[in-house]
Amino acid sequence: MIDSHAHLNDPAYQNKLPEIIASCKEAGVIAVINVGYDLESSRRAVEQAHSWDFIHAAVGIHPHDAASFNEEVAATIRGLAYDSRVVAIGETGLDYYRNQSPRQCQQEVFRWHLNLARELRLPVIIHDREAHGDTLRILKKIKPGPAGGVMHCFSGSWEMARDCLDLGLYISFAGPVTFKNATRLREVTKRIPLERLLVETDSPFLSPEPYRGQRNQPAYVDRVIAAIASIRGLAEEEVRAATTANARRLFNI
Ligand code: NI
Repeated sequence: MIDSHAHLNDPAYQNKLPEIIASCKEAGVIAVINVGYDLESSRRAVEQAHSWDFIHAAVGIHPHDAASFNEEVAATIRGLAYDSRVVAIGETGLDYYRNQSPRQCQQEVFRWHLNLARELRLPVIIHDREAHGDTLRILKKIKPGPAGGVMHCFSGSWEMARDCLDLGLYISFAGPVTFKNATRLREVTKRIPLERLLVETDSPFLSPEPYRGQRNQPAYVDRVIAAIASIRGLAEEEVRAATTANARRLFNI
């Protein structure tokens, strides 16, 4: 299994990484994409990817932190992006749920990341929360580059998923697909072509059932796979094999 989106760089894991990684290995997680959300976490993602073979890094500024973006931040992220352990740009996107940075500013920083990903031929990791319209509008204007990208922790409608698929993007699902009340999301999950599906934990957040309320970890990605298999009426092994192959293809690992 590959956890296509986790934050092992989060302070919640400080000094706990050896045990988190041991449980990954025990569970059969063969790779984790360790995603940056600000400057510090992007740097840490790269450092950790150098320390552990199966950790790969993504660097970027989360929409929450878009207001902190300036030329110096841009230059640092760009510099990090050239590191051999960096496999993607992100996470970037729009978050109109928390609105921690002004919307205009989020949009501008999102565009910058899309252009950087295109220039460096790296896939882009997109965060979209309650901002489906603007996310799509920007994506249709600045199309993802040759390396494509992924809608992480997808929460939109089937119509939105279809537009994202048309743009060549992968669709990634996290813990919420395991929630019994996520009826609409489960319907969307059913319709994504298997070869465009990714799984993730978004650790340390969003623990899947039956771990809700506990701290999440990449080993729990097996619960996301199990939920998708059951929703689609497939064997877990089939979903595991497909999502692993998809993550390898997208991130070139
Ligand atoms: Ni995330």
